[in-house]
Amino acid sequence: MIKISPSLLSVDFTKMGEEIKKIESNVDMLHLDVMDGHFVPNISFGMPVIKAVRGITNITLDTHLMISNPSKYLDEFVKIGSDIITVHAEAPDEILECLKHIKKSGKKAGIAINPDTPNSILDKYAGYFDMVLQMTVFPGFGGQGMIMEAVNKIPEIRKMVGNDIDIEVDGGIYIENVHEVVSKGANVIVSGTGIFGQPDIKKAAVDMRRACESYEVK
Ligand code: DX5
Ligand code: ZN
Repeated sequence: MIKISPSLLSVDFTKMGEEIKKIESNVDMLHLDVMDGHFVPNISFGMPVIKAVRGITNITLDTHLMISNPSKYLDEFVKIGSDIITVHAEAPDEILECLKHIKKSGKKAGIAINPDTPNSILDKYAGYFDMVLQMTVFPGFGGQGMIMEAVNKIPEIRKMVGNDIDIEVDGGIYIENVHEVVSKGANVIVSGTGIFGQPDIKKAAVDMRRACESYEVK
């Protein structure tokens, strides 16, 4: 089942609440990009913003942690209302322990991998994640171009994890190229510039879902 997860990184933060209200009934989740200026060369937002979002919507909060020591902060993200918590396989930390901790806290656990990280790293974590996040750009910034080498990793990931695990894709995804990822087996579509960066965000979300559905692998 296709799920649409617009990335808040591209929202107009001066009217974040209004913008979320405009699209919450047309999307499945909100993607929250947390960057620490250490694991990635950029700083975004953290707990206060996520807590504020939780205060205005019941939608699934899909939290993408691009931070070096996620284990330190997991309980805080659980407490403020994240529903899915994704940690990077490349982060210097005990990533298996992080996944176990997220699941023990009753939340969904995601494992994120960069475009150049081999799929085989997922074997280490098998059984402890609900979602794989294949980055289709190097993490750190919105508005980058989709990397086809990363897209081409998706069919093998689908084979490895089966159909009960979500495969999320993130970076450079627009209505015009979403078929590339959906036709290869991805089912959770993150889009920042492609949705919150558009003049009519509700239309962009609806059109994105329609574009996905025609290429869905069933
Ligand atoms: C990049 C972030 C993405 C980003 C995607 O590091 O993880 O979620 O917001 O933005 P677009 O869709 O603009 O590439
Ligand atoms: Zn992201």
